[in-house]
Amino acid sequence: MKVMVVGGGGREHAIIKKIRENKEVEKIYALPGNGGIAADAECIAIPASDIDRITEFAKARGIDYAIVAPDDPLVAGCVDKLEEAGIRCFGPRACAAVIEGSKVFSKELMKKYGIPTAAYEVFSDVESALEYIKTAPVPTVIKADGLALGKGVIIANTRREAEDAVLSIMRDKQFGASGDKIVIEEFLEGPEVSVLSFTDGKTVVPMVSSMDHKRAKDGDEGLNTGGMGTVAPNPYYSEAIAKECMEKIFIPTINAMNSEGRTFKGCLYFGLMITKDGPKVIEYNCRFGDPETQVVLPLLKSDLLTVMMAVTDGTLEKTPVEFYDRHACCVVIASDGYPLSYEKGFAISADTGVWDSVFVAGAKLVHENEVRQGSDDIRSIRDEYAPAPEGMRLVNSGGRVLGCTAVADSLKEAVDGAYRLAGKIHFENAYYRRDIGARALAAGK
Ligand code: AMP
Ligand code: GLY
Repeated sequence: MKVMVVGGGGREHAIIKKIRENKEVEKIYALPGNGGIAADAECIAIPASDIDRITEFAKARGIDYAIVAPDDPLVAGCVDKLEEAGIRCFGPRACAAVIEGSKVFSKELMKKYGIPTAAYEVFSDVESALEYIKTAPVPTVIKADGLALGKGVIIANTRREAEDAVLSIMRDKQFGASGDKIVIEEFLEGPEVSVLSFTDGKTVVPMVSSMDHKRAKDGDEGLNTGGMGTVAPNPYYSEAIAKECMEKIFIPTINAMNSEGRTFKGCLYFGLMITKDGPKVIEYNCRFGDPETQVVLPLLKSDLLTVMMAVTDGTLEKTPVEFYDRHACCVVIASDGYPLSYEKGFAISADTGVWDSVFVAGAKLVHENEVRQGSDDIRSIRDEYAPAPEGMRLVNSGGRVLGCTAVADSLKEAVDGAYRLAGKIHFENAYYRRDIGARALAAGK
């Protein structure tokens, strides 16, 4: 079987490594993949946003199954296009991916169907938003309607900050057309839980829960990022809360999407906050989370491709989905400076034997003579091994560069294991948080 995975981050690497376990798979293509994914799949230089070329490629190579992982192509209708061309796919069609593509849509869906979420107002002009802020309680949360690379949410602690956020999103178009409308919502408090689920539109099967660490710096300080590390399961997600989420959030969401004629098939991600009034939805994503996937999939005992195909075929109810009763931790190594500006092009080196547990994100292969010169001691100590062909080197090319994942019988061992791995990887401006899992460990006691 020939499988194609659209995307090129750590999430896609985790999906590809898991899919390789299926004996039916003879070939995996990654579009575009990255320098580390190249060790596990053939990377094709077609951007994940180029839906026409992706579809042409799939037809020309006789792809049997396509997995569309990132939000942009899903929201833009990549699955619709591939299905029209007769290709079986994992991922929602555009009409369902709107659950992530428009925050106004998702908030209105929750209101209409009584799904617990923060109270909110929608604005499509600057003046009425500014007027509303004059009396709104603070802190308050301002969200651009559309996709904004995970940066479209601003928590304003004062009215002044709220005004600035409205102006930069709506007037200065910080996120382009994604800011034509905004949602201003109630600030909620409580631990956050990520729950990814498989759904074929009839059955919803939650995966093991996880905890993301969104801020750039230790102690949840610094700017919001795509995620600096994860642990699974999340100790705040008790069995009682899981049951409540299933009854009040997961099943009602699937039913609501069906009632709207927008059946969701794929991975539906519930970003939840466990407030004193019970669990509430902070956001929906129409895809696997990143770096949640890097801890959730290593704990999946069942065959991923079999489960995905059951989602496509609408047979999820009859398909077992099992997880190991273990713990996982992923520590993201970023380029220092992320999520703002950072330097790229430094060679990544690692001790032998670590790459099996590392998911590669913002890294690419370059010829040895294109590697940027870092400090001498780093180059001379660790040049032993990197997953690169002869004459090539893996260099950092993005903000989040690698995810180091360890699986163990206890959370403590998983966290220690992930940090041991991170300590064996080197590049000039590598940066990672030192407290991934600390909050979960404290909560678990
Ligand atoms: P998002 O980009 O939608 O994942 O939101 C980024 C982060 O903003 C979330 O992970 C929460 O920590 C925070 N957030 C979003 N909405 C709210 C809210 N209503 N109350 C408090 N925090 C929020
Ligand atoms: N880690 C959060 C996300 O994937 O959106």
